[in-house]
Amino acid sequence: MNLKIGVIKGDGIGPEIVTEAMKVLDKVSEVYEHTCNYTQLLMGGASIDVYGVPLTDETVAEAKASDAVLMGSIGGDAKTSPWYQLEPSKRPEAGLLRIRKELNLFANLRPAILYDELKGACPLKEEITAGGFDMMIMRELTGGLYFGERKTVEENGVMTAYDSLTYNEAEIRRIAKRGFDIAMKRKKKVTSVDKANVLDSSRLWRKVVEEVAKEYPEVTLEHMLVDNCAMQLVKDPKQFDVILTENMFGDILSDEASMVTGSIGMLASASLNETKFGLYEPSGGSAPDIAGKGIANPIATILSAAMMLRFSFDLDKEAKAIENAVEKVLKDGYRTMDIMSQGKTQVGTTKMGDLIAENI
Ligand code: IPM
Ligand code: MG
Repeated sequence: MNLKIGVIKGDGIGPEIVTEAMKVLDKVSEVYEHTCNYTQLLMGGASIDVYGVPLTDETVAEAKASDAVLMGSIGGDAKTSPWYQLEPSKRPEAGLLRIRKELNLFANLRPAILYDELKGACPLKEEITAGGFDMMIMRELTGGLYFGERKTVEENGVMTAYDSLTYNEAEIRRIAKRGFDIAMKRKKKVTSVDKANVLDSSRLWRKVVEEVAKEYPEVTLEHMLVDNCAMQLVKDPKQFDVILTENMFGDILSDEASMVTGSIGMLASASLNETKFGLYEPSGGSAPDIAGKGIANPIATILSAAMMLRFSFDLDKEAKAIENAVEKVLKDGYRTMDIMSQGKTQVGTTKMGDLIAENI
């Protein structure tokens, strides 16, 4: 099979971790006889440096022309990077938000799995993690506060800022359906997370999710308020299967979920639209503090590449080969710094990529 992949290495640790994911993809291609055709695309700070904007129309068109996009991370240190002297709509993050919107990537899947091997890196007590856990955060990605109207104005001599959280029922319905579809292939439980005791948008969310649930009688639906969910994630993460939630809540809860799995360096993600196209990226950021040092964990990006093979190309066997290779390398005791624990072998970014590729 010929895989046409757009590659956005991005900023910070992005180039280092994407290079390792490409190394693993190349190995998969060799073993399973596929061809990966990569097109390098610029986004975020890397695009600002060349074109003055975080995402050009040409890059959007090239991304659309690919079957899938593999991405690293974007953004820099907000205190020191010149990118943050620009107005907010021209900063690196604006490129990411625009590509999500332009490609209609409304469904963000963030699987948080506690690997047996990484229990040592998990900050929770052993009695909580016993038996492991495996949840999928389904985050709505093109609505809510991220895309609502915003402005900062002076009112009666006082600076006032507005951000609006808007959802219509169609937007809620399509993400809810995705959540239930995914739950059907898992443990058949959906926890819909909202703040329906305060927000109108959440009350509509709850109503629409309940309507959708009627089409999935096999799936158990429960509603949970977002503050309670934040607590339950550290108290009893095992209870979750699919967490279905709006954009901002999903952003926050997925970082929390990643930490209870040991490290954000392990959390892959897929951002999907109604077609087979997807954008695949680690959930973590560009980590400018460790960029260029060769110590970043490439596993989240490598697992994102596995998600790409599965969702955009239906290459389940190949995806599984990557996931198995990751598990094998962890079992063999290799760790990057972020997941290091006593008695294990610490390796850098490149070595971790080599080891995973060798195990395909
Ligand atoms: C994420 C990131 C982004 C988000 C930032 C970089 C805009 O935190 O993908 O979770 O908030 O969506
Ligand atoms: Mg985030």
